[in-house]
Amino acid sequence: MKKMMKKLALAVACVTTVAMFAACGGKEEENVIKFGTNAEFPPFEFVAANGVIGEYDGIDMAIAKQIGDEIGKTAQIENMEFDSLLLALQNGQVDAVIAGMTIDPERAEEVNFSVPYYTAKQVMIVKEDSTIAKATDMADKKIVVIQGYTGESCVKDMGYAYEAFKKGSEAIMELVNGKCDVVVIDSATAQKYVGDNEGLKIVEDAEAFSSEEYGIAVNKKNTELLEQINDILTKMKNDGTINELSAKYSEQ
Ligand code: ARG
Repeated sequence: MKKMMKKLALAVACVTTVAMFAACGGKEEENVIKFGTNAEFPPFEFVAANGVIGEYDGIDMAIAKQIGDEIGKTAQIENMEFDSLLLALQNGQVDAVIAGMTIDPERAEEVNFSVPYYTAKQVMIVKEDSTIAKATDMADKKIVVIQGYTGESCVKDMGYAYEAFKKGSEAIMELVNGKCDVVVIDSATAQKYVGDNEGLKIVEDAEAFSSEEYGIAVNKKNTELLEQINDILTKMKNDGTINELSAKYSEQ
């Protein structure tokens, strides 16, 4: 009996060690590439029943999946608040950030950005009967932005008062419910929201909002991964994959 107990204890210890090894970053982790995102940004990232990576779907998620495939690793998604993404990257909690993130000089001080893969701009979403026709018309209106998005910096730079929400969907609800007059957000996401909600329209102002480019962010120390990502993105741009993905997810 004693002997059997000893054997059992040994077996349990072995199993525990193996499990711990895997969980603490043993072999298994080497085959994973972790992408941080904020899955509140259709058509780039959103939660769906059957996503391209688990429950995550969208243009960025398809790009992340392909990057994983091409470097021979399984792409995993860590979904978090948009504001936490660059910190998570610097902490090593994720290997890269793919989140429709605009390449801007302030962020580029903290992390490295890949080659750009998508061009966007800020637009205004208003009710169909709104009189807002250009950015300066927002001056005396109730403006809503999303916290930490470039849209927030744009409105801040214009010197207008605004309220910031954590999610685009919450901002749109404010507008739909008549609690604000305008939401400033990236163009493709705006198009999604206007398509999904009755009575809204998009107002553009090319003079007020310059174009922005999205890039994948990588830790400054990880130049090898940055090069790999740049090669894959360049290929995906040149062979039309990114255009196809944009068209596919924008139509949905
Ligand atoms: N392009 C904007 C920015 O970089 C918004 C990005 C929001 N992305 C997201 N996954 N929630 O600030």
